[in-house]
Parts: sequence; structure tokens; C-alpha cells
Amino acid sequence: MPDDSGSGLSRRQVLAASGSGLLAATTAGPARAGTARRHSHPGDGTPEQIHLTWGDNPARSVVVSWASPDQAIRPRVRIGQRVIPAEERAYTDGLNGQTTWTYHARVPGLRPGATYGYAVTAENDLNAADPFSATFTTAPEGRAAFRFTSFGDLGTPNTRWVASYGQAAYAVGAVESFQPLFHLLNGDLCYASRNPAAQPEVWRDFGNNNQASAANRPWMPVPGDHEIEFGNGPQGFTSYLTRYTLPANGLGQFEGRWYSFRVGSALFVSLSADDVVYQDAGAFVPGPAALTPAAGAGGPSVPAGTSLYLRGYSGGAQTRWLEATLATARRDTSIDWIIAQMHHCACSSSRHGNGSDLGIREEWLPLFDQYEVDLVLCGHDHGYERSFPVRGSDAGAGTDTAAGAPADTRRPRPVTTVDSGVFDTSQGTVHLILGCGGTDANLDAYGAGGAGNGTGAKVFTRENRPTATATPGVYARALADAVEDATWSARRDTATGYGIAVFDVNPGTEAGGQTSVTVGHYHAVGADPVHLATGAPGAPTDDYTLFETFTLVRPRSDGRRWHAKQSSSAVSG
Ligand SMILES: [Fe+2]
Ligand SMILES: [Fe+2]
Repeated sequence: MPDDSGSGLSRRQVLAASGSGLLAATTAGPARAGTARRHSHPGDGTPEQIHLTWGDNPARSVVVSWASPDQAIRPRVRIGQRVIPAEERAYTDGLNGQTTWTYHARVPGLRPGATYGYAVTAENDLNAADPFSATFTTAPEGRAAFRFTSFGDLGTPNTRWVASYGQAAYAVGAVESFQPLFHLLNGDLCYASRNPAAQPEVWRDFGNNNQASAANRPWMPVPGDHEIEFGNGPQGFTSYLTRYTLPANGLGQFEGRWYSFRVGSALFVSLSADDVVYQDAGAFVPGPAALTPAAGAGGPSVPAGTSLYLRGYSGGAQTRWLEATLATARRDTSIDWIIAQMHHCACSSSRHGNGSDLGIREEWLPLFDQYEVDLVLCGHDHGYERSFPVRGSDAGAGTDTAAGAPADTRRPRPVTTVDSGVFDTSQGTVHLILGCGGTDANLDAYGAGGAGNGTGAKVFTRENRPTATATPGVYARALADAVEDATWSARRDTATGYGIAVFDVNPGTEAGGQTSVTVGHYHAVGADPVHLATGAPGAPTDDYTLFETFTLVRPRSDGRRWHAKQSSSAVSG
């Protein structure tokens, strides 16, 4: 079973292939790809890959983004009587040399909770007589009910690409079927990095698949390890950053990598976990061939054994921003819920996947404790797992896999192990693994490496940078180096690796009273390409049925004074 870190066979195969024939693979892309199109005049400026994101204030602003096959002339959005010009951002892929043209129109001055129609066009839009149009709804202002949905690890439905699978189309349809105000996409968007000869075309299939939902409601992403691409910027995020315009974090060189936004009484905090995790899970050249960019792409060859390891890339700026953001939110008596979104997992007991990462536990869980973060939504492991509410940690609860010695995994401590279905998240943070979007490698088996009770979790407690293997010139990255009993794990879906989580926020009725979030996880039974427990082959399906529901509650912050705790250690003991 290939693991998500990419040390499995499938990535090795694709990179080995790419190293020997990147240019040939590029020319074999879909018919509309390639360089010939770029030389035609006036070019095809027809909008495609149309998607919405929230502006800095979701009650008042959205951003309409799209791409076109060639440079667009006078790209613009029409909304009511307003015509809003779009900003152009283009980049040239460092591996295959293809240029992608993207357009971003910031639409300010909207009314809260209102539905708007819009149209997207350009002078050289081949559909100019009847341009693409859709509608969206802005966020409510103040304490109001709303729904959002989430999953990560989506891929594209075009199975010519590594890690793509037909479920990616049904997953987009599932979002539409629940009609959320917006959707959270928790990293590993399309796995372009696993198709190094054709990264822009994979992104294109992803964008056109998502448009069926993302043109109707904002899809808010975080970067995952597969958004890290060779040849594309200091963190490999150029493809991601070019396509998305995200709320500002005020940090210049780090814009777009992490951000927050407010909807109703909830603050959403979207993080770049590659900055803190120990796992080396980004782009990697296992060898023996180097990764050689196509002629004319401009970049140097990437030697075997190279990985793009991002731990610490912000120099602590992200964690400082996170603490300031959480502190401000908990001083604000109009904010009840704080919901974090990231790709990697602090609490995953996936058997064949990546597992948990001590980096998140060290850097961010103490802040989540101190500022009562209610919910953490992740991806990375391709299944569904829910933790009990956790606060504080147990020291020395892990075991080093190689040495058998005790290892400090800072195991999150559950505040209850009674799966009552109702959890007070002012007492502990619930973690959800939602890597259940649509990529091809389902990971719906759990509990590897435990101390015999079948609930064990693997944990990365140190860097797993590439090391030489017994085969000359071939490199590999180790799996997680420690295990622990997953005392925090409450529920895992072993029926399928595919699903969608649906969140209904109920703001409550009185100051200082209770507010709640009802969560439903819906799963696509039978969608696993191969079911891990039975070996049964499956196929993509649009049949999403209820797996479980539970409710999170907390006291509203408009009826009490919130007291910051002295430190997380005060509650962790
Ligand atoms: Fe993934
Ligand atoms: Fe991942």
C-alpha cells in the first residue's frame, strides 16, 4: 500500500519514469495542453477553473479566480451593474516550462447573507456572447446559523494522473448536495507533485473538476505536502499561490500560506503545517535518475536523494501569528468557535498512512489548549478518524520503533473516553482526520504498531530526511519512528476511505448560553479501489450515506469573561 509520504512504490515509479523521459511525458498531455496554443493570436482567453474564495471579510467580500488557456484580454467580472477588472498572475512551471495564466477579481462592498449572480469574461472569451455565470451567497454577520463542509486529499477524476481517481468528481458533487455556505479543502489538492512532467495540466483538471462547486461557494484551501513542487518557488508553492487569492495575514513574504477568516461566531484559522511537522513528506527524488526539467524550462536538474523539506521555513513567524490570532479571538466576545484547518495530523492512528506528528504537538497543541481551539480539521491520511476532546499531554507514553526504548510523543490526553456523542470543546479540542476526498489510495485501516490492543498510532518524532538504500543511487525516507497507544482515538471509519464532513453551526439563543456545532460524517461505501480489510475491489460512487453524527457544545463568549490560562502545562500536569 503506498503511503502518503511518497516513499511507496508508485511515486518511485513515476519519478523514475520522469527522470528518464520528462519531455516525452509532457508532450503526451491532454490535447489542449502544450506550447502551440500559447503562440496563437489573439489566443484563447475563455475562463475555466473558475472558483471563489472569501475576501478579508466573508460577509462583505469574495474573490473570483480563474485561469484561461492563453493570456486573457481585459479579464473581468460583472456583478449587478459593476464591472470589476481582474488582476493577472502568471507563472511558468519550472519542470515542464508551461505557462499558466490566472485571473483574480476582488469583489468588495457586498451585503451580508445576500445572494449575488456574477459573470466572468474577457475580450478573447470564446463564450463572450454567453459568458460563464453563477451565483454565490455571502456570509452572515453576527451570531447566525450556517453550514460548512470539509475534506482533503481530493485529486482529479482524470485517472491518467498518478493519485487521481474518479471519486474526485463525486466528492465535488457531494459538496454541492449539502449546499454549504463554503467548503474547507484540507490540503493535497491535486497531487500535481506526483506528476512532475505535467504539473500544470494536473492542476487544470483539478480546477475544472472543482468548478462545479467552487464557482458557487468559496472553497478555502490549505497547502499540503503535495502542493510542494520542485521548480516552483522557495517552498514549492508557486502553483498553489498563483491560483488562489486568500485572506491577508499581513506578513508580506508569507502571504497565502496561512490565514484566518471570520464567519458568524466562528473564526477559521488555516495553517501551513509543513512549517512545523517533522515528517519529510514533500517533493522527493528517490533516484537513481535525477529529475531533469524539460529542455527550455530553465531549471537545473534535481539530483537523486533531494527533497523539499520545509520544517521551520517561516522561522517561527507562523506560530507567532497563530498565537496572536488566537489571543485576539479569545478576547473577542463575539467569537465563540475557533476552528483550525491544516493538512497534517496531530492525532492519526492510520495503519498504512503517515500517522501523527510530534511537530504539531510541540508547536501548536499547547496554543490550542491555552486558547480553547474547539476543532482541528486535517487530511494527509486518507480516511476518517475522530479524537475525543484532548487537553494537555502524557509524557513518555511512546515507544521508539527501532530501539524499543521509551519515546516522548507528547501524547494528547483525552478529557473523556466516553463516546457520548456530545462534547464540550471548551474542555478539550476535537481532531478530525478528513483525508477522505477522492485520491486513489484509501487508508481506511487503523491501529498499526500499538502495544497489542489494536489501537496504536505511529508518530514522527524526528526528521526522516532521505537516506541511501542498499540499491546504489536510490534513496528512501523512513516511516514514523515511534508508536503509542492511541488513547485519544474515538472513532475510525473502516468501511471506506471516502467521505465528507458536514458542520451545522447553531449560535444559540441567549448571551452566555450554549452554542453548538452538529457534525455529520457521510461516507461513500464501496468507493475504495481495493478495500484494505477484505481486498474487495470497488468503484467510484455518488452514494454518500451517514456514518456518524455528534455534537460539539461550548458556552457562548458573550456571557462570561474569558480567562487565559497560565500555560498549557497548568492543565497538562
Ligand atoms: Fe494525501
Ligand atoms: Fe499529504
